[in-house]
Amino acid sequence: MCGIIGIVSDKGNIKGRIIEGLKRLEYRGYDSAGVAIKTDSKIFVHKKKGKVYQMEEELKGANFPSRVGIGHTRWATHGEPSDPNSHPHSDCRGEITLAHNGIIENYQELKEELRGKGHRFRSQTDSEVIAHLLEEYTGEGANFLDALKRTVNRLEGSFALVILNSKEDALYFARKDSPLVLGLGEGENFAASDVPAFLPWTNRVIFLENGEMGKLTPSGVEIYKFSGEKIDKPPTTITWSLAQAEKSGYKHFMLKEIHEQAKAIGDTVNPRINRDRNSVVIEELPISPTEINHILIIACGTSYHAGLVGKFYLEEIAGIKTEVDYASEFRYRKPVLPPSTLTIAVSQSGETADTIGALRKARQGSKSLAICNVLGSSITREADATLYTHAGPEISVASTKAFTTQLSLLLLLALYLGRERGIITPEQEADLVSKLLALPSKIEQMLRSQEEKIRQIGIEISSYRNALYLGRHLNYPIALEGALKLKEISYIHAEGYPAGEMKHGPIALIDESLPTVFIATESKVLDKVRSNMEEIKSRRGRIVSLISGKQPAIEELSDGVIRVPQVDEYLYPIINIIPLQLVAYYAADFLGHDVDQPRNLAKSVTVE
Ligand code: M6R
Repeated sequence: MCGIIGIVSDKGNIKGRIIEGLKRLEYRGYDSAGVAIKTDSKIFVHKKKGKVYQMEEELKGANFPSRVGIGHTRWATHGEPSDPNSHPHSDCRGEITLAHNGIIENYQELKEELRGKGHRFRSQTDSEVIAHLLEEYTGEGANFLDALKRTVNRLEGSFALVILNSKEDALYFARKDSPLVLGLGEGENFAASDVPAFLPWTNRVIFLENGEMGKLTPSGVEIYKFSGEKIDKPPTTITWSLAQAEKSGYKHFMLKEIHEQAKAIGDTVNPRINRDRNSVVIEELPISPTEINHILIIACGTSYHAGLVGKFYLEEIAGIKTEVDYASEFRYRKPVLPPSTLTIAVSQSGETADTIGALRKARQGSKSLAICNVLGSSITREADATLYTHAGPEISVASTKAFTTQLSLLLLLALYLGRERGIITPEQEADLVSKLLALPSKIEQMLRSQEEKIRQIGIEISSYRNALYLGRHLNYPIALEGALKLKEISYIHAEGYPAGEMKHGPIALIDESLPTVFIATESKVLDKVRSNMEEIKSRRGRIVSLISGKQPAIEELSDGVIRVPQVDEYLYPIINIIPLQLVAYYAADFLGHDVDQPRNLAKSVTVE
């Protein structure tokens, strides 16, 4: 994972801006942080185990007249989090320094080879070999770009690199299978793992493709293929505002992003609705709706849970058999894909290594569609077509608004396919579309009326060591997602389970020390869910219920109740997850955890 940034500028404040950029990249990893800044003909390196703010404290008061520098925030893979293993890494003479995101798979053999030639290594990382390889090749008299070309062609695995050398006020870069974006400013240029890192200074960006490398100076950009061929890439203008990438007064990004969901859903849905007929407009499909015979959804984590809800939508509304698979499992199976399969890769970041691997495998036998939030990300470039969620930047490691916008888009896709295939009538489509358009205001209404109660419930849940989340039918994936949210940020063990399965095993766990969160909004299976509640109550289990409408019997059985506005049955998953996100948030915050940067996790999992 890791976040990298490089700045080359005539405008100064290199150190301050690298640290500011790193803070925006910390969602990618926060085991250690480091900077390297070129002053005159020397490279100053400061790197430390710990977070960016700790490094910032240590560098307070240090001023570096400089035009170029790089920074790194690490999610450890090779070598424990420690000062020597922190990036940037340098060659033997300290004349070449780089920050790396990715994994060099052949680093052991390269290290042996370089040791044999007298190179001295200071860390246990895979990344350090890159600095020594560059040293080796520049030592042979090659100019730096040639040395970089020879180096990248020796590396196996994934890498995004920003590199300094002590002889030039220039920044070198290269990319293969790890994200890297260039930012083009006035008298300054940037390279970073993600756009928010340099968004305060420019919104003109170039998304690099695999196999591209080059050089940035304050006034110019040169891009080459790894073969050495020079290429021209026009910049794209990003519409995300800086405010979207900042906390805007909220205590945490997660809380801000939970509150942004009404808008994010509106931004995702509105551009796809023909208002004259309330019909869905989707023009990007790589295969005609009537030809699709089978859908495969591949995704990880929260996006996988969105896929599970998508299966209900696509089967019930569009009448298409749909299979959902963990990308990490699918990529190593021998899948049997029926003819005319459409593969849908769902990913917030578009950079999840397992989803990319699964997509590559699925593309061997099917057309592919990405559902993604990040413009120009790897998954969008590899899929045959992309439908974008417009959630805006999601910074918190715990995914929230990406999930509800993914659900909204999957519902739109099902409505579109259902209409085109004659499974639903235009009237049925228009009815559900109008209800979806009204959903954002219902979400805002719920947040206004329920948040304080949800906060109290979150605090209560924080006193338990385990929790059970039960839901059925469309709300079974919501139970899984609610439990994932609780465990990833509060570190309370939580199980999501289909309510009807409880009697086949988990019921043995029930006693007063295990609270159960029931998703008990109106549905055709609500009576059955209520029976499950009775079973828990009679074993002295505590119950928190999410309900809609008047449910006196359920309220009677519950120790805590969260009220959700009444919506169409297909919309409950989208609104129901929001209070569960908040329960997790308030539990974690009460426990004093670092909500936006939970331990051991990173936002984009760009390694296997
Ligand atoms: O960027 P992606 O949607 O591909 O990420 C997939 C998962 O890594 C992600 O959803 C993860 O589970 C989140 N931490 C959940 O909050």
